[in-house]
Amino acid sequence: MAKRPRIAVVGSANIDLTTFTNQFPKPGETIFGQKFDLGFGGKGANQAVAARLCGAEVFMVARVGSDLFGPATIENFKKQGIDPTHVKQVEGLSSGVAPIFVDPNGQNRILVVKGANDALKPADVDAAAETLKSADCIVLQFEIPVETVYYTVEFARKHGIRCIVNPAPAQTVNMGALKDLDYFVPNETEAETITGSPVKNVDDARKCAEKLVGGGIRRVIITLGANGSLLASREGTEHVAPFTVKSVDSTGAGDAFIGSFAVFLGEGVPEQEAVRRANLYAGLSTTGVGTQKSFYDRARFDSEWAARS
Ligand code: RIB
Repeated sequence: MAKRPRIAVVGSANIDLTTFTNQFPKPGETIFGQKFDLGFGGKGANQAVAARLCGAEVFMVARVGSDLFGPATIENFKKQGIDPTHVKQVEGLSSGVAPIFVDPNGQNRILVVKGANDALKPADVDAAAETLKSADCIVLQFEIPVETVYYTVEFARKHGIRCIVNPAPAQTVNMGALKDLDYFVPNETEAETITGSPVKNVDDARKCAEKLVGGGIRRVIITLGANGSLLASREGTEHVAPFTVKSVDSTGAGDAFIGSFAVFLGEGVPEQEAVRRANLYAGLSTTGVGTQKSFYDRARFDSEWAARS
């Protein structure tokens, strides 16, 4: 039986307000959308839920607002079996929210209002230090202050804990702070914004990933949506092929990739196969609407993997 990894997510929690629409309004115009969905989201929370559904023990370090959504988010973590001891409400701030627009091809456009996510500070990482030290892997994103991300990367380095950073949404990166980071996992858009190099195809992604590895990061995985993903390290670069799925909503696919990848690696699955499995887990998540609610549990995933691998 595979080892059950312990995964800590230091990151964001949002409420997703998803509108499915065929077109977008012009300034001053009102039009009708086709469908609406309200759900729990946020890149950190989504990655935590994916890791939990894949079978890990998961704990979350996060901040939520003093509004209706704050207690509901904490309740959702409990319901999912995620330890919310270090998820606190912040007085006077709203919870993070994300109005999301999905077009008929399943492509999304996301606007994030960070709210209480911005109140997660290095001191909060210190307050969770004993729990974090017990983790096999710490997972971070860019929806919390970057100073907290860099502080946590340093914490992970100091304690020899595997660390995965998902630089989403993209921001200018201090490469010095990410030196020797285990895994840096942007999508094409984020990789492009961070490096300034275009990522329009697999070859571009290869150049971009090699640039990031050249900058001192140990391993880079660029997720390429329907084109799979690209894994680069100091040893070489490899394109990992996608699986064919019937996609209806790609929102949260990157989060599904990262949460599941952390678990597969923690179980001792070899790196290249862990990426391939995460490609499938992410692909399957796009066959349902929403983020967390579209993620497969381990039994469903394993049967798909057995049928397709
Ligand atoms: O990656 C998808 C997520 O991005 C959504 O859940 C939304 O909340 C934003 O954080």
